[in-house]
Amino acid sequence: MASKKYDLVIKGGRVIDPALGFGKDADLFIKDGKIVKIEKETATTRKDLKSLDENQVVDASGKIVVPGLVDIHVHLREPGREGAETVETGCQAAAAGGFTSICCMPNTSPCIDNQETVKFVQDRATNALARVFVVGAITKELAGKELAEIGDLVKAGAVAVSDDGYYLQNPDIMRRALQYTRMFDIPLMQHAEDRFLCDGGVMNESFQSSRLGLEGSPAVGEEIAVLRDIALCRITGARLHIQHVSARGAVEAIRKAKAEGINVTAEVTPHHMTLTDVEIGKTFDTNLRVNPPIRTESDREAVIEGLVDGTIDCIASDHAPHPEEVKDCEFDKAAPGMIGLETSLGLVKTFLIDKGFLSWADAVRKMSYNPARILNLEGGTLTEGSIADITIIDPDKKWTVRREKFRSRSRNSPFVGWRLSGQVYRTVLGGRVVFEQ
Ligand code: NCD
Repeated sequence: MASKKYDLVIKGGRVIDPALGFGKDADLFIKDGKIVKIEKETATTRKDLKSLDENQVVDASGKIVVPGLVDIHVHLREPGREGAETVETGCQAAAAGGFTSICCMPNTSPCIDNQETVKFVQDRATNALARVFVVGAITKELAGKELAEIGDLVKAGAVAVSDDGYYLQNPDIMRRALQYTRMFDIPLMQHAEDRFLCDGGVMNESFQSSRLGLEGSPAVGEEIAVLRDIALCRITGARLHIQHVSARGAVEAIRKAKAEGINVTAEVTPHHMTLTDVEIGKTFDTNLRVNPPIRTESDREAVIEGLVDGTIDCIASDHAPHPEEVKDCEFDKAAPGMIGLETSLGLVKTFLIDKGFLSWADAVRKMSYNPARILNLEGGTLTEGSIADITIIDPDKKWTVRREKFRSRSRNSPFVGWRLSGQVYRTVLGGRVVFEQ
């Protein structure tokens, strides 16, 4: 038997790719894990398709075909907290959410501040359902006192550094960290919340925190942290990436820095674009406790404006799995964080695309192309010759977020019960279908 011409053909979907600059019906031809050909459907000779058996063809008519989604802010909890998530289950959640590449944060136990732990996580991800890129620590044990061996981390394959969960408070160490990362051309990803102002806060400091008698974490703590880091970025010329921007003042600071030509990028989470602190008093759902906190309506509007005008480059979930035992308690005792990989796309479609803030092409730019560029990852495009990481979306499919349906090992989502529009239909990783709805 003659060798197959293609391994997979995705037929008749609307291909949306910012790099290609088109949103047209087309067929994608895949061989050896790469996209080898894209043809406008009308131009495709049916001869090519005839030689393929049923299993090798995905009928994508009525669907949207986009470059595999990329989430650059994920917690996989391995090593150390496998009860919450493992690399394997986190990647299953990623595939179900349409993500083909994810970047995992170093706040594991032990934390990822050395080559062995980078390699351990990479090893665990060998046969996983998504590509896993490791973000190493900026400082040893994320303690903010002594720089980690950043060069060694990069040599082992770390794509960036972050002390996520903690702001690197010491400006001298931060300056040296920026100088160091510049040598390797990797971004430094900062969790920007000034610790003197924000530590101890369990929700946004506002009328709502006073009303509920809960300790507040002020938005100005984020704004100050961002302003300081921008100043250090200016003098070092390093690549600064601000994680989970949540405050209006922080958006404005980043907007000004970009206008000045400073090398700063930023991400926003779906929850900071869809929730406000008013929700907390309604239910005291501990899944609403997250760092940085969900804030006011004005902040929520500001992060959306920032995303729309390009101040914020990408959407990242900050998928932070926690088991029942650290969430089934009083609000102020609960561990901060919520899962997000499996609800990101539906929330973006329902609350940003359907409400007219983003087009599908914009959303693909924010969820695939830009995050891939920020971290220098392969993917983010469907151009011929690129890796065959592809997400096929049923654009108007309505679905309800169900607790029992999560692939993640944890269930800590405040979105359970929400009705969303837009669902992943297939996820293709390196030419292999890894998720089918
Ligand atoms: C993160 C986690 O659980 O690892 N939680 C969160 O609320 N974003 C760490 C952190 O940023 O506090």
